[in-house]
Amino acid sequence: MKKNQFKVLDLFSGCGGLSYGLESLGFKIILGIDNWDIALKTFKRNHSNSEVFLGDLAILFPKKVDKNFDLKKKGIDLIVGGPPCQGFSISGKRAIDDPRNKLYKSFVNFVNYFKPKAFIMENVPNLLSMGEGKLKKEIIDDFQSLGYKIYYKILLASDYGVPQNRRRVFFVGINGSSKYKFLEPTHGKLGIKKVTAKDAIGDLPEKDVADESPYMIKFFSNYQKMMRKRSHGIYNHEAVVHTEKTKKIISMVPDGGNYKDLPKNLQNTRKVNIAWTRFSSSKPSCTIDTGHNHHFHYKYNRVPTARESARLQSFDDSFIFDGKKNEQIKQIGNAVPPILAAAVGKKLLKILYDL
Ligand SMILES: C[S@@+](CC[C@H](N)C(=O)[O-])C[C@H]1O[C@@H](n2cnc3c(N)ncnc32)[C@H](O)[C@@H]1O
Repeated sequence: MKKNQFKVLDLFSGCGGLSYGLESLGFKIILGIDNWDIALKTFKRNHSNSEVFLGDLAILFPKKVDKNFDLKKKGIDLIVGGPPCQGFSISGKRAIDDPRNKLYKSFVNFVNYFKPKAFIMENVPNLLSMGEGKLKKEIIDDFQSLGYKIYYKILLASDYGVPQNRRRVFFVGINGSSKYKFLEPTHGKLGIKKVTAKDAIGDLPEKDVADESPYMIKFFSNYQKMMRKRSHGIYNHEAVVHTEKTKKIISMVPDGGNYKDLPKNLQNTRKVNIAWTRFSSSKPSCTIDTGHNHHFHYKYNRVPTARESARLQSFDDSFIFDGKKNEQIKQIGNAVPPILAAAVGKKLLKILYDL
């Protein structure tokens, strides 16, 4: 097997879930760009051979980034990123010409400037149906006009071994005639069981522990074993202190239950249909969000810690998050699960050797 030397530029990189997954395949992550300093601190800590750039991609020109980091000379083979979804609006204009869509436009501009062999653009699935499919068509047209063949698919993270039912759409662009095919699900249908919430977090303690604490019990699933492989102890495991009233309500929801399991008078205490949802110990978790506090541990009467959320997003325990607890949770909820990123990258790698 040839050694993977392909170089990656990560736009809207956040803490680097997408990059971390690609790095596990041997990709070289050259640079992460984001406008959030704390996420970049995490990115730098966990991608020690990469550089980071703090900047607003709405106004940052590719040429400036190129100049600062000598990127064209280094050669960028792959551009990846997920322009934030609030950056998409549908109006009479083409999406790319609407000033509200400047973050998407920035992604297109970077692809146009560096002309990488390929790109991966990730986003929320409902992007495909926005404007009755008009936005999807425009995205495809924009990149086709730059010479890329476009492939897209909604992937379910738990189909690839992530202990979470998270759906995201991936656009893969190829600059050449090779055909990209998304990896078929590896879990669920082929007799390989999906990874459950209990498999993922069942070995982590109920209470807070200080960073670098040793594990208190032995792992009891292959997933836990994998998560601990390069770990130096438990980090980012600070529990939220709920009020007695909140704890009491959570305690009434059974494993895998939700607000419908509460007495009638408590069912409407939170006005969202995902309220008071307890993970099921025997299934992958629901989508890990950026800290809405509506989802609870399958056994303990609290929301998951950052480390538990990170496990459910498939970050291994050696990946350490900077910032305060709520900032850690936000970085984690924003991220592409590294194992899912690797599933997308794996099929790309085969093509890149031929381009
Ligand atoms: C969905 S998250 C990216 C997650 C990342 N792909 C990962 O896998 O960890 C989107 C990121 O875009 C960043 N962002 C939002 N607006 C931005 C802007 N104008 N310029 C640069 N970054 C921006 C946010 O700080 C956030 O980290």
